[in-house]
Amino acid sequence: MSERIIIIHPHLDRNLKEIASSNAWTDISADAGLAEASGLATAVDLDIIRSEIIPIRKIKPSSFLGKGVIDRIGDMVEESDIALVFVNYSLSPVQQRNLEKFWNCKVIDRTGLILEIFGARAKTKEGKLQVELAALDFQRSRLVRSWTHLERQRGGFGFVGGPGETQIEIDRRLIGERITKIKKQLENVKSNRRLQRSSREKVPFNVIALVGYTNAGKSTLFNKLTGANVFAKDLLFATLDPTMRLLELPAGRKVILSDTVGFISNLPTHLIAAFRATLEEVQYADVILYIRDVTDSNANIEYESVKSILKDLDIDIDEDERVFEVLNKIDLLSEDDREYIINSCKRNKHKIAISAVQGDGIQELLTKIDNFLSKDDIEIELVIDVSKFGSALGWIYEHADVKNRIDDGCIVTIYANISEKDINRFKQKYSDIEIKINFSSK
Ligand code: GTP
Repeated sequence: MSERIIIIHPHLDRNLKEIASSNAWTDISADAGLAEASGLATAVDLDIIRSEIIPIRKIKPSSFLGKGVIDRIGDMVEESDIALVFVNYSLSPVQQRNLEKFWNCKVIDRTGLILEIFGARAKTKEGKLQVELAALDFQRSRLVRSWTHLERQRGGFGFVGGPGETQIEIDRRLIGERITKIKKQLENVKSNRRLQRSSREKVPFNVIALVGYTNAGKSTLFNKLTGANVFAKDLLFATLDPTMRLLELPAGRKVILSDTVGFISNLPTHLIAAFRATLEEVQYADVILYIRDVTDSNANIEYESVKSILKDLDIDIDEDERVFEVLNKIDLLSEDDREYIINSCKRNKHKIAISAVQGDGIQELLTKIDNFLSKDDIEIELVIDVSKFGSALGWIYEHADVKNRIDDGCIVTIYANISEKDINRFKQKYSDIEIKINFSSK
């Protein structure tokens, strides 16, 4: 049975000094913030009994919330048999502990809940290790902070041992040891992945990466394109690790489709590294599909957060020619709006309107990708003696767009379009086969 919870979304006054440095959070409307918080809670299957926006004009250092609100929520907790209160903000350890005491139930803050979700969603070994690392790091910072707090209470003599401190010291040491171990394991996993990537480069297919704000519809599109049954529900963070599948484009070119974790604004700092690790693949992608939910009311904020995350990976979504903007969920628009968006995309090679659920626009999307990937293709003529090089023929069919074929006994002449990258690979693999390049690139 899922736990009964109350969600509190604090809406901070713009003038609060605590938020003066962080702009994004206040840009999100209180309703959108609460909706996002509910999405987070649903993602780990919590039973939301009540949710509310609490305007905050002043933060109480010891309990975050003021006495009136604490008492009111306390009554609700008691009356409705609540097991957990989720406060959609980063609480200090002291604030969290005090709220737990006041309400006599568990309190979880934003970082804690996102860690839970990441933990539940991580699929690969690397993802799991990254989440555990983030969780331990989070715990350690809380121990350090509460320890400092104790230190202060005792007039700054933190080294005067007391039972509290000793326990904290032990916990810190254990956590430190575990962190070192995980970091080592992660290094191994990462070098394995580098190996996998370089072996993929040897048997190469172009990589298409899906990126986008959480809930934009990446997994749904991924499933639609590959027929794979990857986890897709109306949950935030349905994917944590990149998932890969082979896909054939209309002209026969095979590509690898790679799904990534959904982006989120205001990602707690402890989670940024874990999240970035899953995005490494995007840097090496040949095509980046940036999926956007056309119905989303926070589209601009989400766009800014996706842009800034990708910028850290040296990808400029407005300039990089590998990026395609995919406007999803057009089935939810009115007929006029849908028409307008579809027409505006027709004039843009890098913009496509789709419905991942109903399939509209999927063919156009694939064709646009195909055209992009084949823009630098070269026309070649190959004469293959299949009695000696049977596998070369198969290789060409896998990697090139074969336009014509003439069979003369064992001698097969192939006319095809192929990328320069692939032609070089072919030359390395089958150095005895002569290749005639008919025309320079288109
Ligand atoms: P994360 O993994 O959390 O980042 O999410 P995601 O971007 O992979 O989103 P997902 O594919 O899980 O879709 C989120 C929700 O939107 C699901 O309920 C989907 O059914 C719904 N959805 C996705 N595409 C469409 C669409 O084209 N039309 C409609 N109506 N709903 C869609």
